[in-house]
Amino acid sequence: MSTHSSSRRLSVAAVRARKGAGNLVSLTAYTTPMARLVDAQADIIIVGDSLGMVLYGMPSTLGVTLDMMVAHGAAVVRGSTRACVVIDMPFGSYQESPEQAFRSAARLLVETGAQAVKLEGGQEMAETIRFLTGRGIPVMAHIGLMPQQFNAFGGFRAQGLDAHSAQGILEAALAVQDAGAFSVVIEGTAEALAKHLAETLEIPTIGIGASAACDGQVLVTEDMVGSFDAYTPRFVKRYAEVNIAMQSAIEQYANEVREGVFPQREHCFGYGKPLMLAPATTAENKEHRVAL
Ligand code: KIV
Repeated sequence: MSTHSSSRRLSVAAVRARKGAGNLVSLTAYTTPMARLVDAQADIIIVGDSLGMVLYGMPSTLGVTLDMMVAHGAAVVRGSTRACVVIDMPFGSYQESPEQAFRSAARLLVETGAQAVKLEGGQEMAETIRFLTGRGIPVMAHIGLMPQQFNAFGGFRAQGLDAHSAQGILEAALAVQDAGAFSVVIEGTAEALAKHLAETLEIPTIGIGASAACDGQVLVTEDMVGSFDAYTPRFVKRYAEVNIAMQSAIEQYANEVREGVFPQREHCFGYGKPLMLAPATTAENKEHRVAL
């Protein structure tokens, strides 16, 4: 069932209303061409701060700046017309205070035209989520494995695998819902916990490495099409091998240039026609050469 219309984007209210009405499809995009491809299928496009690792070769998402998210967010909005666009708030742009978060989130929405922001955290972010949602900024929360907590977690590790940690994630989910988040990304958690969260929460849960029990799924598009292969999490399914296709195209181009096979006449302008120069131009050229 499609709830898109060709002229209107899926709103955050429509996303929220999809709870229990079929799986939501979400993918990431960072650029206009990728947004055009993803927009044809996705209900939600997330401009993830994973772009720091995927596009910029950073070791984690911590080095991503607000300026980067504004530039990529605007590019994705320009490349899409149907999906609800949600932009990640980068590390350091919201944790200090609700006021700092408001300034950053307002900039993201005003300068890009996106519908919502996403931020990582549970109870510790509830006050900030309440502050933002109370002032007209829709928030998607992100709990479980939170990549911005890379240093605190000691790497990218699945969360909620023991009773204590699972209870913490349940409390985080309830806290962000209570604070007004319209949906929540649940990353890298056990299937039973994801199922319990989807059954308990009134807002849609979007899973990444959290099983089919969630109300929707998201993947980093470059992971699932095989154009980012520096590191592939276990929860990713490869639907294409884009890097292999690109490598082979680049190799073929390089060979053809070395062998003089490319370009052919169809890639040239006025192929085979004799050179024609107007006399004046020729004289000027001669003077120019003398001057040189
Ligand atoms: O940064 C990101 O790409 C994300 C999505 C995968 C949810 O947070």
